[in-house]
Amino acid sequence: MGFMNKTTVLTGISTTGTPHLGNYVGAIKPAIAASRSSEVDSYYFLADFHALIKCHEPETIRQSTLEIAATWLALGLDTERATFYRQSDIPEISELTWLLTCHTAKGLMNRAHAYKAAVQDNIDADEDPDHGLTMGLFSYPVLMAADILMFKAQQVPVGRDQVQHLEMARDIAQRFNHHFGELFVLPDALVDDNVAVLPGHDGRKMSKSYGNTIPIFEPEKKLRKAVMRIVTNSLEPGEPKETKDSALYSIYAAFASPAQRLEMQQAFADGIGWGDAKQKTFELINAELVPARERYLELMEDPAQIESVLAQGAARARAVATPFLQQIRHAVGIRPLA
Ligand code: TRP
Repeated sequence: MGFMNKTTVLTGISTTGTPHLGNYVGAIKPAIAASRSSEVDSYYFLADFHALIKCHEPETIRQSTLEIAATWLALGLDTERATFYRQSDIPEISELTWLLTCHTAKGLMNRAHAYKAAVQDNIDADEDPDHGLTMGLFSYPVLMAADILMFKAQQVPVGRDQVQHLEMARDIAQRFNHHFGELFVLPDALVDDNVAVLPGHDGRKMSKSYGNTIPIFEPEKKLRKAVMRIVTNSLEPGEPKETKDSALYSIYAAFASPAQRLEMQQAFADGIGWGDAKQKTFELINAELVPARERYLELMEDPAQIESVLAQGAARARAVATPFLQQIRHAVGIRPLA
């Protein structure tokens, strides 16, 4: 930690829902791999304050936080290297959110896609434009800016949908720096267009909103069933098959080594039956997940172990956040009187 030449990489994981194979392939696996590099100083956190915006069910918030923490730990996030914490354990983030709020142009927030889409939905439904909207949704980008700026993150791996939030974080930081001196580092969004987008069993992108997800740690039998449900076509065994546009092949490929991919391409050309191809796909995914699944179940049985890992992460994060927040307080004039 803390070498001058390391890049600070930070990303937040909204604690809503149960992590699925699309999250695994598209975000979790690459993030865990990246965090192993000695070139980076990485921060990963559970964005539970962000989750409160979308979810008003206390037990769902808790359950999702537990599942997501257990998932990252079970999949091998190295918490000695990476700082892994829960947003709500860092009171400095909430305080910074307010300090930033006081310097964030309302007009900037008016332009946020997520907020604008919610307003548009209301207008389309002939409702009051603000119907059902909370200040949480409106201020979401300021909280996210605080998450990022607090740790002087240089690179923030996110999906395309979050790029605007990163631009807003830069705007907010710039305006603050302009007024109070160079306190904040301007972060860059890191959007990886090469990561696999995993289809669900219906062939559309695997996503909670399509209801086509496969949870990462589904028991083996259910995982097998889910794979057997993936859409194919009516070609018989012995008939050559195309890998292009095959959801089954895409899913296989996301878990396969280059050599295994070539083998499966050949098998398709040679007319492998769909049942066989599905069985091979199930075996491949399952083999990758077996060891992690055991750790996951252990962790889910022992939330105290997760709490203690998160407490260590929070202590490390606060060792950075507390002095920096003091500096920011001082800059804006929240200072000792004597
Ligand atoms: N808004 C992000 C999402 O929905 C989650 C998030 C919260 C985040 N704070 C962050 C991502 C800070 C990167 C940096 O995916």
